Amino acid sequence: MRIAVAGATGHIGALTVPALEGRGHEVVRISPSLGVDCLTGEGLDEALEGVDAVVDVTSIAATDRAEAVASFGSITRNLLAAEHRAGVCHHVLLSIVGVDRVEGNAHYAGKREQERLVADGPMPWTIVPATQFHDFAAMVTSWTERDGAATIAPLLVQPIAPSDVADILAEVATGESQGRYPDIAGPEPQDVVDMARRTNDARGHRVRLIPTWSGPFDTSMAGDVLLPGDRVRIAPTTFDEWLAAGAP
Ligand SMILES: NC(=O)c1ccc[n+]([C@@H]2O[C@H](COP(=O)([O-])OP(=O)(O)OC[C@H]3O[C@@H](n4cnc5c(N)ncnc54)[C@H](OP(=O)(O)O)[C@@H]3O)[C@@H](O)[C@H]2O)c1
Repeated sequence: MRIAVAGATGHIGALTVPALEGRGHEVVRISPSLGVDCLTGEGLDEALEGVDAVVDVTSIAATDRAEAVASFGSITRNLLAAEHRAGVCHHVLLSIVGVDRVEGNAHYAGKREQERLVADGPMPWTIVPATQFHDFAAMVTSWTERDGAATIAPLLVQPIAPSDVADILAEVATGESQGRYPDIAGPEPQDVVDMARRTNDARGHRVRLIPTWSGPFDTSMAGDVLLPGDRVRIAPTTFDEWLAAGAP
């Protein structure tokens, strides 16, 4: 099959490309730095020529809710319209477990908009909701780190290895559309503050952690909100195995 990965240069995209190629598929890479922009539509029609399926793993940095909804919405609208014109058969969206249960977070509002547009749109679709990735905690502390200290919300999560996410996306993209896919999660629940401490230790990075609910993750994300539901596919790689591999 010929499969396009939107966000191919990103964290998950860069793993999804080889996961697809390793299964013998031809991959079209989409990202602004490669000259194809889903926000403006630049290069999209040419990129999707002869494509059978599209995996959307784009992401944008937006802290404002309206901006996140507008940008994620435009990316999805432009992709779906171009796919429809090109005769693509399957749109796969990577989403986040619990987006319907969290009101305030701007990124989550943008992902909800993507899910709405995909589910109501013209293309056969599969939405794959994933829990936080194994590197999530260190990514969050990097946002606020200053003078050797960083803030982090004490979230409860069941993190998944980025390479497992990529493998599942490659499998899903090469099959029939499935609508809402089961939540995908790693094998064990974790405390995000502990994850951050252990990831930074594994990377030899010293940072003092300050737990707080002030920031992008507020108390609406506390408790079991981010954990997978009963319909769940558990991916194999534990957080400890990922740490032992050098927390890549
Ligand atoms: N982090 C988590 O724990 C987690 C958990 C569950 C789900 N997710 C979801 O996973 C998805 C992928 O996350 P990630 O960490 O892999 O993101 P990332 O590393 O930030 O990569 C983002 C990708 O999107 C591309 N992109 C940005 N604007 C674009 C545009 N206008 N048109 C086309 N491509 C564009 C970027 O291209 P350039 O390199 O050219 O800028 C890059 O390839 C996100 O949607 C996120 O919501 C994340």
